[in-house]
Amino acid sequence: MTDILEKSVAGTAAQRILELLPEPVLLVQGGEGDAPEIAYGNRAAREVFRIELEGAPLGAALRRPEVLETIEAALEMAAPAEVAFETIGVQPRFWRAFARPLDTDGEGPNQLVVMLRDETDARRTERMRADFLANASHELRTPLASLAGFVETLRTHAKDDPEARDKFLGIMAQQATRMARLVDDLLSLSRIELNEHIPPSGKVELARTIQDVSDAVKPLTAERDVSIVVRPQAGVTPVTGDRDQLVQVIQNLVDNAVKYTPRGGKVTVTLESAASLDAARAASRTGVGLSLLSPDSGEGQAYVVLRVTDEGPGIARQHLPRLSERFYRVEGQRSGGTGLGLAIVKHVVNRHRGGLTVESQEGEGSTFSVYLPVAPTSAPAATS
Ligand SMILES: Nc1ncnc2c1ncn2[C@@H]1O[C@H](COP(=O)(O)OP(=O)(O)OP(=O)(O)O)[C@@H](O)[C@H]1O
Ligand SMILES: [Mg+2]
Repeated sequence: MTDILEKSVAGTAAQRILELLPEPVLLVQGGEGDAPEIAYGNRAAREVFRIELEGAPLGAALRRPEVLETIEAALEMAAPAEVAFETIGVQPRFWRAFARPLDTDGEGPNQLVVMLRDETDARRTERMRADFLANASHELRTPLASLAGFVETLRTHAKDDPEARDKFLGIMAQQATRMARLVDDLLSLSRIELNEHIPPSGKVELARTIQDVSDAVKPLTAERDVSIVVRPQAGVTPVTGDRDQLVQVIQNLVDNAVKYTPRGGKVTVTLESAASLDAARAASRTGVGLSLLSPDSGEGQAYVVLRVTDEGPGIARQHLPRLSERFYRVEGQRSGGTGLGLAIVKHVVNRHRGGLTVESQEGEGSTFSVYLPVAPTSAPAATS
């Protein structure tokens, strides 16, 4: 065994390179009996399989019969092969193994290099894309089906009934508005995602932005008899940000707070400075809190913290982690929304390298906190 190893990779530059590769690589050869053996496994392979690889039967590392069969066949035929498989552990992982015969000039046993590629992330992304498409289509289909249904009714049964006609046209207008909002939100989300890796460069005075948003929701708050109290701390530094996107963040949080606060209730929006991440994360109430997005933590980084507190029904703990998922709505709550608001909030805050937490308990209202890093004032002005 060691002979072959020395002849092939051990102690050579090739082996040093193999050791550095982030993906598992095995050198497999025909065994003394029938079962193929592992002659060598690089560091990544040792980390994945956690067994003594050298000299071990291939079946000790790759336990799936179909994987073993494919590799044994490739070894026997000295032909390339490829096989996908799944490992079950605390976290299941998806792999693709590529087997390539090593030319041994007809001397000694057949050898194969087996490279493993971890396709878990790619699978997850693919799955998310498919789920997203299914959800988006479903959300569009519901109002569309209702529109089509009413068109049919107006053509037939309600043709000569002016009262029913008015009522149905009203519902149809609502459904059309809902579809338009959904499409707007989807477009908005995809635009945010497209430039999520580009940090924003504008300067935003959040106290003013909050005031603008709360002025804009006045008609809604008047209609619902909910009051908005805005309490900005004096002297809060402007943040580096994209104003339009931060307006979207505040608007979504305030909209939710107003939507869920009962008549006569109050929504409070506060803005304060926090000297550190810990201070920014500090709970604003005694409720149960959860981080929906953690910021890049920088030593000595100061933050501006925006909190929106409502007197609504609160949110049960099991729902908290999923709130910012697209289309996620708490069951039994008829919000009438599309479930994209908090997803938009999360992506915008992520682009700003900020954080997002929610504190809520059933029957106790909710507080959503956004913290955004303050641009260092002592840094020289950017030259670009
Ligand atoms: N302040 C709140 N109080 C109680 N539940 C809330 C609150 N904010 C959000 N939620 C819950 O989280 C879900 C997701 O909120 P999100 O803002 O993403 O969607 P939405 O308000 O339903 O729709 P959209 O914002 O797209 O109109 C809501 O459907 C609701 O169940
Ligand atoms: Mg919302």
